[in-house]
Amino acid sequence: LVAVTATALTLAGTGAAAQAAPVAVPQQHRAAPAPGGPGLGDEYYPDYGNSGYDVSHYDVRLRYTPATDRLTGTTTILATATQDLSRFNLDFLLDVSSVRVNNRPATFVREGEHELVVTPARPVADGGAMTVVVQYAGTPSTEVAAGFTAWVRTPDGALAVGQPEIAWWWYPSNDHPSDKATFDVSVSVPEGVEAISNGVMPRPPVRETLGYTRWSWRSVKPQATYLTFLAVGQYDVTTDTTAGGLPVYNAYSQLLTQDFRDAAQASIERTAEITEWEETVFGPYPFEAIGGLVAPPNTLGFALENQTRPTYSSGFFRRGSNTSVVVHEMAHQWFGDSLSLAEWKHIWLNEGFASYAEWLWSEKNEEGTAQEIFDYLYATYPDDAAIWTTAPADPGVPQLFGDAVYDRGAMTLHQLRLAVGDDDFFEIVRTWAAEHKYGDVTTEEFTALAEKISGEDLDALFQAWLFTPSKPAVAGAATLAR
Ligand code: ARG
Ligand code: ZN
Repeated sequence: LVAVTATALTLAGTGAAAQAAPVAVPQQHRAAPAPGGPGLGDEYYPDYGNSGYDVSHYDVRLRYTPATDRLTGTTTILATATQDLSRFNLDFLLDVSSVRVNNRPATFVREGEHELVVTPARPVADGGAMTVVVQYAGTPSTEVAAGFTAWVRTPDGALAVGQPEIAWWWYPSNDHPSDKATFDVSVSVPEGVEAISNGVMPRPPVRETLGYTRWSWRSVKPQATYLTFLAVGQYDVTTDTTAGGLPVYNAYSQLLTQDFRDAAQASIERTAEITEWEETVFGPYPFEAIGGLVAPPNTLGFALENQTRPTYSSGFFRRGSNTSVVVHEMAHQWFGDSLSLAEWKHIWLNEGFASYAEWLWSEKNEEGTAQEIFDYLYATYPDDAAIWTTAPADPGVPQLFGDAVYDRGAMTLHQLRLAVGDDDFFEIVRTWAAEHKYGDVTTEEFTALAEKISGEDLDALFQAWLFTPSKPAVAGAATLAR
């Protein structure tokens, strides 16, 4: 943006724009209303998210029919302009029938693969409130973007679970973890079908006309767009309240065979116990509810730390109970969900911490110490493996979920623990979670905090473990014969 003179402002402010000129700002300090940008400048995903406004709340109100994959709905977005805004983008794929901004119809065009460009009837002044109402319909499973379809149809419904891309397929948003918001998600589905999302149920499912039931879910803490999920299908939902007063909602696909169901339940029903243990390590749990959802067989190839309610592939339970994956996804509630990424390149701050939580759980349960797990990984990965040739703090998009981010990220934390000692290490971890609660974080902020709390120069350690694409040396490390 450039500063403009009052003359330029007058020229830019003719017609409809002139009516919306903000009154409180002296003319000489005001820029002409300008379009928001189509991205937030994320180094890895430059056109994800949009600039010019900041969302505080999404109200996503849908109807979904599994038999046809027909999704219709209205999303209402409450936002604040961060500049004098003539136009702005949303990230979205489905067919839009109308957009209103601040009580007036707006015009809109599609641009590129996932951009919806909205021009309000009147510009929005910097700092001004925006209420954006988008009405839409579509068949999400037919939409291809970024080279794939993130929306998954299941035999009995659908799953909106993905990272980083998922929101585009079901609601319009400012799709970047650096713009978090609260959410109301309500979905009307055919009678007998369940619809599960994040947070709590502010009201029980309500029967609507025509054999449809509306399910309502609410997240009252800041939540990233990709961590907002939807599962529609036949689920058994269990509800409880923890000793600490948190509502628990778990959901198990009714399509699971009994052996998977038992193994899943023996893991997911321990979510409260695991979360309470994690509180002793990371500090207070940051959200209003807990739970987990197990997807139908062969529909999802991963687990995802959806806020308050991770989604698990049934495959995690094929060999019996798996508390490690629950420890991992619940650790993400602190690292990934409460502390979200300022840019996607910092992903090791999510995955390294969630993986190290698994090591600590193993240590606590006497199933192998963190040191033993470190030694095993250090000795076992071949010298030319991606874990060593990728720098965790800058993995690039192809290795965003690679071994360097998960295992070497955790190995980095273990090296930090050895360098500063347990007292400082756990103080660093707890302070990190507390100081950046509900915020956005970078690697540089973490390394600075570690140096501040320990009072040590950790530059060589972090350079070797996080920033160098080669295998770091470790004094006295064993090499196992493979
Ligand atoms: N963040 C998830 C986890 O580690 C993994 C998501 C993998 N995403 C993907 N598109 N493969 O729990
Ligand atoms: Zn993870």
